[in-house]
Amino acid sequence: MKIGVFDSGVGGFTVVRELLRLIPQVPIVYFGDTARAPYGTKSRRTLVEFAMEDARFLMEHGAGMIVIACHSAASTATDELKRCLDIPIFDVVSPSIEQACNLTKNKRIGLMGTRATVSSGIYAEKIPKKLPGARLFQQPCPLLVPLVEEGWLKGRETRMIVKKYLRPLKNQQIDTLILGCTHYPLLKDVIREKAGKRIKIVDPSLEVARQVAEEINRKKALQGSDQLVQEIPHRFFVSDLTPHTEDIVASFLGMRVRLERI
Ligand code: DGL
Repeated sequence: MKIGVFDSGVGGFTVVRELLRLIPQVPIVYFGDTARAPYGTKSRRTLVEFAMEDARFLMEHGAGMIVIACHSAASTATDELKRCLDIPIFDVVSPSIEQACNLTKNKRIGLMGTRATVSSGIYAEKIPKKLPGARLFQQPCPLLVPLVEEGWLKGRETRMIVKKYLRPLKNQQIDTLILGCTHYPLLKDVIREKAGKRIKIVDPSLEVARQVAEEINRKKALQGSDQLVQEIPHRFFVSDLTPHTEDIVASFLGMRVRLERI
């Protein structure tokens, strides 16, 4: 069983990093749509179309389950993928909502994300269903993806921008904050510092990886064998490749990997 992971580009490597930590023995096939990124600025219709193509590409390369690592794609296209594809689909949105609802005490939850994720309305729809009375406060943060891709993870400018994005959420007295974009886990230290100790942070890359690991371990237990453990190397595909892409991936993963251009 291969795990297929897709994202608009390199951000999904935050999910790959967690999967490698939790279930290093399970082969991953990754697709980063670097030629068509960013997804965070695209319309719902385009995102559904791209997500379907990305998932089908992974299935053609042997994926037996799909992880939608891209929040912009997950918040707009998960239902469509689940309806059309005949394999298990995991996404970064559902486990984050679950965790945020478990953590919040005052039922005031904040979300940082791309414009596509925020305007999808999925969190605002699902959170009160999961936790009656809970309220969601959202903040689009379009400047954060380029900052992360430039490696500006801790500088003065980044801290100022994070502080500015967080202010409206803090004014709403949120006690839980969802990092609703693949890139934000790399800013976790700055976000934690600017959010303050009172606010609990939900990292979706961790949550979805935990969910996938549980499913894999459950399957292994059912099959009673190591059928899922194979000697197949991971494969990492991208639709455009530059030396900078390789550098960003290395910073996301903490190691260099071979990227294949499709
Ligand atoms: N991967 C995207 C997301 O999580 C961020 C980058 C982009 O906009 O493509 O929404």
